[in-house]
Amino acid sequence: MKLLYEGKAKQLFECENNDEIYVHYKNSATAFNGVKKEEFEGKGVFNNTITSLIFEYLEKSGVETHFIKKVNETDQICKHVTIIPLEVIVRNIVAGSMAKKYGLEEGKKLKKPVFELSYKNDELNDPLINDDHAVALEIVTEDELANIKEQALKINSLLQKLYLEANLVLVDFKIEFGKDKNGKIILADEISPDTCRLWDKDTNEKLDKDRFRRDLGSVMEAYEEVLRRLEDARA
Ligand code: TMP
Ligand code: ASP
Repeated sequence: MKLLYEGKAKQLFECENNDEIYVHYKNSATAFNGVKKEEFEGKGVFNNTITSLIFEYLEKSGVETHFIKKVNETDQICKHVTIIPLEVIVRNIVAGSMAKKYGLEEGKKLKKPVFELSYKNDELNDPLINDDHAVALEIVTEDELANIKEQALKINSLLQKLYLEANLVLVDFKIEFGKDKNGKIILADEISPDTCRLWDKDTNEKLDKDRFRRDLGSVMEAYEEVLRRLEDARA
């Protein structure tokens, strides 16, 4: 298969049907724009399985996604979309860059979800931008941005509900959207412990990529635990 694109955590291959792409989840983990890097046996399996489970749940709940089907442990087939270069972040609890930037303590519950945008551009280090910047940079129109915000907040509510069934608190997450062949904006990329902050509801133990970013150890044990709990909750 022809490799179309290689990212930090996934490879995208051409499919016979041009409306589709073949996605392979790698075992690499990176942080701080690729500065920190490590291979984790099993990561591709966990993230492929978790993303597939979550995208199936979102589809059933009325959110259109690029996901078509999981084909094996590490791979899936998705609709071919053009990724919109925005990292769309929703926060329910203060953590990570929000705590750092504004001098806030991690763990403070937000009165309402915070919708945040970064311009997806590795050379610029994915800078934080506001809604007007996104329109001024011609990444999206105002209507498209309103659509993305509405979808992101709906996805947040659905994910909070799903994770709660797994006794996990959704602190924050990053999603990406793409345009399908008809120009429709649909959820793309992945939703996994790489892209969400997930804390155990009872102990606040971190069960996501912060274990890697912050050298907390037991990274794959945490991903495995998230998968196990989601599977139990969905069974
Ligand atoms: P942040 O607090 O570092 O800005 O991260 C917010 C959320 O976005 C968190 O759940 C982790 C996720 N994230 C990514 O998925 N990719 C990234 O490159 C970064 C910086 C954050
Ligand atoms: N995905 C980003 C990177 O590769 C960072 C992160 O998730 O913290 O470097």
